[in-house]
Amino acid sequence: MKKKNIFITGVAGFLGSQLAESLIKEGYKVRGNDNLIGGYEDNLPADLEFHKIDCNDLENMKKITKGTDILYHCAAHPYEGLSVFSPSMVTNSVFQATSTTLSAFTQNKGERFVFCSSMARYGMNQTPFTEDMETRPQDPYAIAKVAAEDLTKLMSRIHGFEYSIAIPHNIYGPNQKYDDPFRNVAAIFINKMLRGEQPKIYGDGNQRRCFSYIKDDVPLLADLGLNPIASGETINIGPDDEFVTINYLAKTIAEIIGFDLKAEYFPERLQEVQEANCSADKAKRLFGFSPKYTLQKGLEEMVDWVQERGPKKFGYHLPVEIVNEDTPETWAKKIM
Ligand SMILES: NC(=O)c1ccc[n+]([C@@H]2O[C@H](COP(=O)([O-])OP(=O)(O)OC[C@H]3O[C@@H](n4cnc5c(N)ncnc54)[C@H](O)[C@@H]3O)[C@@H](O)[C@H]2O)c1
Repeated sequence: MKKKNIFITGVAGFLGSQLAESLIKEGYKVRGNDNLIGGYEDNLPADLEFHKIDCNDLENMKKITKGTDILYHCAAHPYEGLSVFSPSMVTNSVFQATSTTLSAFTQNKGERFVFCSSMARYGMNQTPFTEDMETRPQDPYAIAKVAAEDLTKLMSRIHGFEYSIAIPHNIYGPNQKYDDPFRNVAAIFINKMLRGEQPKIYGDGNQRRCFSYIKDDVPLLADLGLNPIASGETINIGPDDEFVTINYLAKTIAEIIGFDLKAEYFPERLQEVQEANCSADKAKRLFGFSPKYTLQKGLEEMVDWVQERGPKKFGYHLPVEIVNEDTPETWAKKIM
C-alpha cells in the first residue's frame, strides 16, 4: 500500500520535529513549515522538505500543502501563562493559524487533520481529566484551543475530511526550547541549574503536574494521524502516574545535575491551576499506550541533551503586551 503523504506545521518545534524524525525513519515522505519564531532550526531532520512559511499566509499554505494526505497541525505559540498578558499574539497563533491551515488543507482535499490542542482545555475540572469532560477554558490560550477544536470538527463535518484531536500534557525531552523564559518548566530548570543559577518558582511550588517523556508520546501522536480507529477521537497524550509537585521536579533535576538547590520563590501567576493531570485510560484502551520512561530516566536523558548542546542565556523572543502590577516580574523585568 502507498505510504501516506505527511505535512507537519510547527515542524521546527519540539513535537513537530520529533514527530517528523520518527515518521521519516518509518519511510514516510514528510514536509513541513515553521515561522521559526519558536523552535530551533537545527531541530529540522535532514530528509524533511522544509518551508519557512507562516501558517497565517494562506496563499503559500495552499501551495506547500498540495498533495497532503495527513496534516499534523503542531504550530502555535503555546504559552498558557503568557496568554493572560499577550492575548493577541497567542490567540492569533492558535485560532487564526488553525483556521488558515484548515482552509489550505480543505482546498487541497486532505484526508485527515490532526489538531494539537492542550490540557488547558480542561481548566478547573476535577482531576484526572478525561476526554469526555466538558471543556472549561480559563485563559486566552485555552479559549483559543477550544475554539480551534470546534472549528476543526465543524470544517470536518461540512467538507467531509477526517480529524483527530491530540491533548498533549507537559511533555519534555530533546528538541524542546530550553532558553525560553515563558514556558517548559523542566527545560527551564535544567538550563538554569546547568548555568549555575537557582531556579525561580511561581507560588509555593506545591502545584502538581504529570510530566511525560517525548519518546513515550511520539508513537501515540503518530497514530492519531495514521490509525483508522483514531478518526473522530480526542485523546490525552501523556502518562497518568507520577503526579509530582514543581518542588519535587526541581529537587529531582538538582540531584541529577549535582546542584545545590535553593530555589527562589515568586508570587503565583494569575489563573494558574493548582492540580492538572490527565487520564491515560483512553489511550491505553484504544492504542495500547504504555509509557516506558520514569520521570527520573527521562530527566536524565534531557539533562544529557541540554548539556551536549550547551546551556544558553534566556532570550525574550515574544512580546509582553500588557505590563501591569500582575505581570510576573521574571517577564516584565526580563530577569530569568
Ligand atoms: N509540549 C507540550 O507539552 C504541549 C502541551 C500541550 C499542548 N501542546 C501543543 O502541541 C503543539 C506543539 O507544541 P510544542 O511543545 O512542540 O511547541 P513548540 O513551541 O516547540 O513548537 C511550535 C512551533 O510552531 C511554530 N509556530 C508558531 N506559530 C506559527 C505560525 N503561525 N506559523 C508557522 N509556525 C508557527 C513555532 O516557531 C514553533 O517552532 C502546540 O500546538 C501546543 O499548543 C504541547
